[in-house]
Amino acid sequence: KRPPASILFIFGGSGDLNYRKLTPALYNLFLDEWMPDNFAIAGIGRSSYSNEEYHGHLLDGITKFSRRKGEQNGHWKDFSQHVSYLQMDGDDAAAYHKITDLVKEKEAEWGQHPNVIFYLAVAPQLVPSIATKLGALNLCSDVHCTRIVVEKPFGHDLKSAHELNALLSSMFKEEQIFRIDHYLGKETVQNILALRFANALFEPIWNRNYIDHIQITAAESVGLEGRGGYFENSGALRDMVQNHILQILCMVAMEAPVSFDANEIRNKKVDVLNAIRRITPDKVGEHAVRGQYSKGWKKGEEVVGYREEKGVNPESAIDTFAAAKFYIDNWRWQGVPIYVRTGKYLNQKATHITLQFKSAPHNAFPSESADTWHSNKLTISIQPEMDISIRFQVKRPGQTMTLDPVDMTFSYDTEADHAPEAYETLLLDAMEGDATLFMRGDQVEAAWKVIMPILEHWESHKPADFPNYTPDSWGPEAADKLIAQEGHTWINVPSA
Ligand code: BG6
Repeated sequence: KRPPASILFIFGGSGDLNYRKLTPALYNLFLDEWMPDNFAIAGIGRSSYSNEEYHGHLLDGITKFSRRKGEQNGHWKDFSQHVSYLQMDGDDAAAYHKITDLVKEKEAEWGQHPNVIFYLAVAPQLVPSIATKLGALNLCSDVHCTRIVVEKPFGHDLKSAHELNALLSSMFKEEQIFRIDHYLGKETVQNILALRFANALFEPIWNRNYIDHIQITAAESVGLEGRGGYFENSGALRDMVQNHILQILCMVAMEAPVSFDANEIRNKKVDVLNAIRRITPDKVGEHAVRGQYSKGWKKGEEVVGYREEKGVNPESAIDTFAAAKFYIDNWRWQGVPIYVRTGKYLNQKATHITLQFKSAPHNAFPSESADTWHSNKLTISIQPEMDISIRFQVKRPGQTMTLDPVDMTFSYDTEADHAPEAYETLLLDAMEGDATLFMRGDQVEAAWKVIMPILEHWESHKPADFPNYTPDSWGPEAADKLIAQEGHTWINVPSA
């Protein structure tokens, strides 16, 4: 069922996120007949574009970044008729009548009251000013179903996130605020819930009695991609762990929801965040490792070190790699370490979760078999591979009782490119008003609480060894030591 009539106002309409992700996603929804019968999209920005020039710019983005390049023939013209450009400065309150004018115009044209969705794809410092002016428009009455979609980063730390939540909720109800974490829109991330809660097979063993430890890796092979200015104020822990990785951790560790209701699922996730053991300042060294890349070689090309990147302080103490060990203090997970890591310029792009099971309680097989014995392992690959794989032992055919580990794998058919992109799912949900895959205010703050002790410690103790890893590696040696403390090693899942 298509969503109701909607108008999307995209602040940052001439920006990179819209160019690479949002418009390609909306266009794919259009091709798949998911867009409402009546819809309008207005890009908002300060740059000057005629509607025609704006369409040309967006089509260029689709040609470069859409998962279905080449399918635009014929349909683009139909789609672009719904798209316009509003040149305005988000700081200029007097310009906001352009928004109300368009809403009124569409209302008259369609003969119905549309959903109005404000998508803030802008630098975080602009969010408060724009949100305040939108709130003052007073579009939010019974007839206008207004929503505001806010991109990450949601705050810079716990305090600023709290202030931003307070500001937004002074103007919008929580049901109207859609805080994006695009990882939650990824097919394979959503599939974690299906795997866990639509099967009776896994849940009985999904706990401390059977699981030895969990690993979550979100490795990136790319570097800063021209975002030095942003990254210098962020770092890997803020950029990836506070949001994407902790959200994945919640889905892996949460209790079974009673229903698929947005608040029910989000309650269960907040429970996980609240149960993560706080790392005390004296224990940060044992629980977290940071890294920064030096100059080196990436795919045969020489690349500069982080400190030489544009927009970066030559003595920067910012982390381009972060690893941490968390414990969840509840009945299910007591004592099970959860290791997470992420970094730029690592050996490969690979996001995956591994649940390492305990060894079988007794090995009754001939002693030679111990050499090849592997404990069971369940791996959920989020990207670029999209699969779920279980490792178990089988007997090697032959006269001896020799065991071999084998993998049983379910793989999404990535070749066919059927899987919608995260932003397609999330934009559709925003039009439908389904907040399940968006972060609630308390969830964001709970996630900041988890990482604040690490951040504060890192900020007050400058690293002595930066840069400490080379591009194309798996990060600093200290990350191996972090996990080796309990006799573990990082599990790399090679891409096909
Ligand atoms: C973003 C981060 O949220 O996620 C980027 O700001 C990162 O630094 C990106 O590269 C990774 O997203 P994906 O979908 O490519 O894994």
